[in-house]
Amino acid sequence: LISRAFLRQFVIPEFEEFCSRIEKIYNKCKGIHLGKVASYIPQLERMSPDYWGVSLCTIDGQRFSVGDTKIPFTMQSCSKPLTYAIALNELGSEVVHRYVGQEPSGRMFNELVLDFNKRPHNPMVNAGAIIVCSLLMELIEKEMSLAEKFDYVNAYFKRLSGNEYIGFNNAVFLSERENADRNNALAYYMRENKCFPEKINLRDCLDFYFQCCSMEADCESMSVMASTLANGGICPITGDQVLKPDAVRDVLSLMHSCGMYDYSGQFAFSVGLPAKSGVCGGMLVVIPNVMGLCLWSPPLDALSNSVRGIEFCRELVNIFNFHRY
Ligand code: DON
Repeated sequence: LISRAFLRQFVIPEFEEFCSRIEKIYNKCKGIHLGKVASYIPQLERMSPDYWGVSLCTIDGQRFSVGDTKIPFTMQSCSKPLTYAIALNELGSEVVHRYVGQEPSGRMFNELVLDFNKRPHNPMVNAGAIIVCSLLMELIEKEMSLAEKFDYVNAYFKRLSGNEYIGFNNAVFLSERENADRNNALAYYMRENKCFPEKINLRDCLDFYFQCCSMEADCESMSVMASTLANGGICPITGDQVLKPDAVRDVLSLMHSCGMYDYSGQFAFSVGLPAKSGVCGGMLVVIPNVMGLCLWSPPLDALSNSVRGIEFCRELVNIFNFHRY
């Protein structure tokens, strides 16, 4: 890092100037007071609509944060690309995609629908993420106890975040489990259609999925995760090769086409970056070979994306030439 600094070889050479422009975008978005905090469980509903944080981490480890970037929040659907990444890394894409497709569904993220091969459409919708959890449990962690299975995912998340904050919110987990009619229905529907790898314990599998959604991060740790994805799977803080480049390529491809719920097409068109949002109001945004960002603000638009997060991305690509095309 130091020799690069002397040689001015950073991927963002004028970093201070860059960060002051990021802060301006942040402040502009702070003035937006639209959207509604997710209310399907009380633990999410209690989140202040004023929380707003942006963290970024470049692939050469330069960091910048502004706003509420040290407050833990549950990752919710932002965990979906990460569990998918672990499955790809351990099993390879051929095995994983026997069970889950690669097409945007064009339907709500929790819709009771399968593709023409009787697979969930992709790993970014609930049905697909539940299947990915079953692959982790049955094909990778088969011999482990439930506690060890949880530890296994937790350890992966920790490595992706360069050992920064990763936690677990038990109240959110219990609430998710109590308010899970749709996810339960999805799991039974998929079992009826023989979507799972083998005879699985549905209860354990759903619990595992709720546990992944209830893992906590903060903007800073999540920006490092995004940056590990931007950096071909090598964590820019520790230098640890956490994911194989092929796994990263597959994850980013599906974040690009399916990561933003029913806004994915428009987001890919107008922002042109792989991203994944969650009902927590968090967004993982990846600028390949440059940096990872985490944006977090709980108020959501009608499609369940963070209002300030989306506006931030629009402004970002207006000012900087980060759109992939
Ligand atoms: O499964 C659920 O409904 C939530 N725990 C996950 C929500 C989420 O962020 C929706 N995503 N696709």
